[in-house]
Amino acid sequence: MIFDEFAIKSLITPINDFPKAGVVFRDITPVFQSPKAFRMVVDSFVQRYIDSDFTHIGAIEARGFVLASAVAYALNKPLILFRKQGKLPAKVLTEAYDTEYEQSVLEVEAGCLNAEHKVLLMDDIIASGGTFLAAARLIRQMGANIYEVAAIVDLPELNGSRLLQDARIPTFTLTAFA
Ligand code: HPA
Repeated sequence: MIFDEFAIKSLITPINDFPKAGVVFRDITPVFQSPKAFRMVVDSFVQRYIDSDFTHIGAIEARGFVLASAVAYALNKPLILFRKQGKLPAKVLTEAYDTEYEQSVLEVEAGCLNAEHKVLLMDDIIASGGTFLAAARLIRQMGANIYEVAAIVDLPELNGSRLLQDARIPTFTLTAFA
C-alpha cells in the first residue's frame, strides 16, 4: 500500500472561524467518510507499527477513538480510552488542559497502566498539543511509558509537535499543513 498524501490532504478541508473566530479548523471527518481514504490511513499506521514493542494503544476522545480502535483491532493491542470529564464510571485520574479553542479535562481509569507498559497514543491531529500532553501526564502518573504520539495531521504552526518533543515524546504524523 502506497500512502497517497495528496489525496488525503485534499479531503481535509479548512473551515474558517470554527469553533471560534480566528481558528482555521482542519476537518478530518471526510477521511472517515471515504472507505478508501480511511483504509489507507489505518493501513499506514498498521504498517508502521506492525513490529513495534508498545503494549497498549491510548485513544483520545472523540476522533482519536475512531482511528485508534481500527489500529488496535488490526494490531491486536489493548485499547485505553482517554475521555472527557464525567464519562468514565470507574475510579479515574484527571488532568486539565488548554487547546487552541477550549479548556477541558481529560480522564482515564485509575490503575489501568503500570511501569511495565508502553503506550502508543493516538488522535486525529496534533494542534497545540494540550490534549496529548494531558494524556501523557495521565500515563506518567501511573508510572507507564509513552512509546510515541501518532496522528493523521500535524499543524506545526500551533507548536504542539515541538512541545511534545520538548517533553521527550516522539511524534509521528502522516501529513502536515504548514
Ligand atoms: N482541527 C481539528 N482539531 C483541532 C484543530 C483543527 O484545526 N485545532 C485544534 N484541534
